[in-house]
Amino acid sequence: MCFPLPVYIVFLHQYLRRTHTMSDSFIVEWARAQQPKAPSMKNASVFYRNLEEELDVRRAQHGCIMLHTKEQTSMVDFSSTDILGLSTSGSVRKGYLDELAKHPDFKLSSHGSRLTDGNSKYLEDVERELAAFHGAEAGLIVNTGSLGNAAIFSVIPRPGDAIVYDELIHASVHDGMKDSLALYRKAFRHNDSESLYDALVAVQESQPQIRNGTRSVLVAVESVYSMDGDICPLQELIETAKEVFPEGNVQFVIDEAHSTGVIGPNGAGLVSALGLESEVAIRLHTFGKALAATGAVILCNETVRTMLINYARSIMFSVAPSFPMLASIRATYQLLRSGETQGAQNRVHEIVKFFLETMTSDPIWSKASDTGLLRLPTYEDADVQPRRCPASPHPDHPAADAYQAQLLPCVPPATGRFLGLPHLVSGGAQGDGTRADHLPCVKHGRGSEGPGCCNCGMGPRDAGD
Ligand SMILES: Cc1ncc(COP(=O)(O)O)c(C=O)c1O
Repeated sequence: MCFPLPVYIVFLHQYLRRTHTMSDSFIVEWARAQQPKAPSMKNASVFYRNLEEELDVRRAQHGCIMLHTKEQTSMVDFSSTDILGLSTSGSVRKGYLDELAKHPDFKLSSHGSRLTDGNSKYLEDVERELAAFHGAEAGLIVNTGSLGNAAIFSVIPRPGDAIVYDELIHASVHDGMKDSLALYRKAFRHNDSESLYDALVAVQESQPQIRNGTRSVLVAVESVYSMDGDICPLQELIETAKEVFPEGNVQFVIDEAHSTGVIGPNGAGLVSALGLESEVAIRLHTFGKALAATGAVILCNETVRTMLINYARSIMFSVAPSFPMLASIRATYQLLRSGETQGAQNRVHEIVKFFLETMTSDPIWSKASDTGLLRLPTYEDADVQPRRCPASPHPDHPAADAYQAQLLPCVPPATGRFLGLPHLVSGGAQGDGTRADHLPCVKHGRGSEGPGCCNCGMGPRDAGD
């Protein structure tokens, strides 16, 4: 079967050519997963048949997700979020094992929620360490970032408050907002301070309690957008909000999932990079992306933390983070704090630049861009430094269906992007020349076959291996 991948996407095309056999089997399997099933289940239980009928709707749109394991493929890693390579770093693993050894009697599970038996001095110590690292008053560790966003947005906006959010905000913020007591919710155009201004003015005009300063507005943004890979113009948005609400009843909530470990001093995030700690009420840092751990920390003040502990159902009715999870978080943060990841962080930024320069200097780029076949949002907005490299075909082009079908089936049709996440250790099993560690050294322009670029010390193994 022929998969209509657009050949004009140069790097992807070249990559598929190199991994021809594997891609073919992957595509055949994917095509098989789109075949309808319900018609062949006439004698099966109605319960399962109804579920298969629902799945057939997805299959008819070529959108039925087919899981694959990393071991099954030898693909070049442009999609995992192990951006700094810390997950495979010997340093984090060593720090983690040292941490376990220091607590030989540790329990594998916390055996209770924070409110019952799940709390511990260790957990509170790690929270204090993380808060200090990011320059926050308090921290609250939660089992996942999604649960963190659900907790924040379902609990913190109170009745009569309003939520104004960037239109590309993460799905988990939407999940939280669905349960929120703040009934007034309004999106503003992505990264657009004028649109934020208009949205805030609309709130002011329609909500008397907010206008008279007895209720608040929460503005929800991401530091690096998971959709477009661009960076939030945070300072500008904060100034805009102050212009509309000079009395200060507007507060910012920022999701730093994609900036954690990658932006700011020792990877502390965008807010720390801009010195805006006192201007942002709540920050969410997740550990499952650039950091080699799972879970997230909500950074806030004691009032917000107490509210979350008392009201957030996803925290109250869930087992507290376990010791092994906390030990890996601590090990990763020890590495960040030591400054050992800074070299890797710098290198990732150079790789992103290299990718964008390579794409846009290809003779085919201007044609693809002018005809709207291919977008590189982080290149178009040259003022912001990109950290992710999304590319998307024009929604009207037939290629858009292919992208939508398998590459990003979880966003609405015609909004799909191919997200390329450059990594420090992103090579496929065969080492096919696209590995981050085969790129020319950013300092000296030389390459090497080894893991350390031209061995000048800026190589991908700066992450501590
Ligand atoms: C912007 C953003 N926020 C939150 C999350 C959720 O984090 P977690 O994977 O820890 O649930 C993600 C993960 O995809 C994300 O991209």
